[in-house]
Amino acid sequence: MALPRGATKEIEPRVIADPEVVRGEILAARQAGRRVGFVPTMGSLHAGHVSLVDRAADACDEVAVSIFVNPTQFGPGEDFERYPRDLTADLAMLAGQNVRWVYAPAAETIYPLGHATRIVVDGPARRFEGEARRSHFSGVATVVCRLFHDVPADVAYFGAKDWQQTIVVKRLVADLGLPIEIIVCPTVREPDGLAMSSRNVYLTVAERQQAVGLSESLRLAEVLWEDGLSPEEVANDMKKHLRSRGIAVDYAAVVDAETLGPAVDPAPAVALVAGRFGTTRLIDNCLLPGRDDQGPSIGWDL
Ligand code: PAF
Repeated sequence: MALPRGATKEIEPRVIADPEVVRGEILAARQAGRRVGFVPTMGSLHAGHVSLVDRAADACDEVAVSIFVNPTQFGPGEDFERYPRDLTADLAMLAGQNVRWVYAPAAETIYPLGHATRIVVDGPARRFEGEARRSHFSGVATVVCRLFHDVPADVAYFGAKDWQQTIVVKRLVADLGLPIEIIVCPTVREPDGLAMSSRNVYLTVAERQQAVGLSESLRLAEVLWEDGLSPEEVANDMKKHLRSRGIAVDYAAVVDAETLGPAVDPAPAVALVAGRFGTTRLIDNCLLPGRDDQGPSIGWDL
């Protein structure tokens, strides 16, 4: 029986591998008037994912989570093979979170023999992660499109930590007219500021200490932005800070928060950063408010 919205009684999620079954359940719930929230993940769940699930459970009658380590969003030589996979631990993280369904398809279900379709998003997908990881966003767009088909929810929740991904997914949804709302939720951080990421487990003790430099550079960006420095000046100081911490910088930039093109006053901007720590690559970002109070509001709820 469906729980009323906000109810606290624990439910055990039903783990489903079959796309037709999960789709049928979700369509039936929606037909019965239930609002369904969806949290797509690659597993290795942490408090950041749980915050998305919480948000979905607060706003929806039913919550679905997908767990699928998507091979097509990893480039050659990236960490697909070693990406942490532990369904039992993931289900334990979801216990008591009012998740109704966990969709955990096999790779052959999503990419059957002969699969030949890729979705390519241009524009906001081109720079930053799109440059550093050439086929990454095409892999993300392809799988997200398929997941939205299999889990036809009212609304999907994504973490702001992958800011560019949220912009790419919104572009995909708008361009293909996909009938789903996208909500972006705040980044969850460790007490010292490091953004939670499934990849943090790869860090050695020394790298973990160094990695806090990413969020430090973002705090610096906030101060410098507030002081009125230009996007280029802020980015240069971020890079200096990161290098002073011994971090190999992939990029540090301040760009328009919605288009990821040049930051134009008074629109809100975003500071984006990517750094390498041994064999681990981490990204982070922070929003920089428009400098003019009269500037356009783009309605982020962050
Ligand atoms: O953010 C992620 O975990 C993945 O990129 C996503 C959206 C689940 C697609 O595989």
